[in-house]
Amino acid sequence: MKNNSEDIKETIDNRFSEILFDKNDIEKAAQRVAEQINNDYVNTTPVLVVVLKGAVMWAGDLFKYVSIDAETDFINISSYKGGTKSSGQIELITDLTVDINGRDVILIEDIVDTGLSLDYLKKMLVNERGAKSVAVATMLNKNAVRKADVSVEYVGFDIDDVFIVGYGLDYKEIWRNIPFVGIINPEVI
Ligand code: IMP
Ligand code: MG
Repeated sequence: MKNNSEDIKETIDNRFSEILFDKNDIEKAAQRVAEQINNDYVNTTPVLVVVLKGAVMWAGDLFKYVSIDAETDFINISSYKGGTKSSGQIELITDLTVDINGRDVILIEDIVDTGLSLDYLKKMLVNERGAKSVAVATMLNKNAVRKADVSVEYVGFDIDDVFIVGYGLDYKEIWRNIPFVGIINPEVI
């Protein structure tokens, strides 16, 4: 077991081959996206719905800069069954607590990949829950892999089709707590 701090740092670094965005990059993107939201939702009180678990860190940054009146809520859906490919099957794990009937909703997402999760959520919130509108503010957008024709209103960063972790995103439920968006060292998985 390693117990000196240099060894621990080495261990952490070895898990990732590249840092794409650090916490300062992400906070700046959150500020930019929040300003767009502040401009677009002046005469309404939207419900900011954080899509658990991945969007937690991004939502924390975004919330600091959303200055309009807004309510917040959480929903937990699962689309990945632990690997690096989308299963396309979405399961509702924890539901909203706010009644969104007639409300403007902004989904706070970690990443839009195939778009299947977002498509499911948008349709459910409009068709079954009666939301007046549903927009999405995602930290990351992988455009190249889209399988569902779904609109993405606010984007932190567009990225290529590469599997990333950190800042909320996981590989088999680990590394959500890493304070940057990075690429896993292929030797460790
Ligand atoms: P989609 O349904 O394919 O758009 O995928 C949405 C979900 O898949 C995201 O909310 C993430 O939880 C997960 N996901 C997609 N790409 C990645 C990735 O590169 N790393 C980690 N999770 C990902
Ligand atoms: Mg997610």
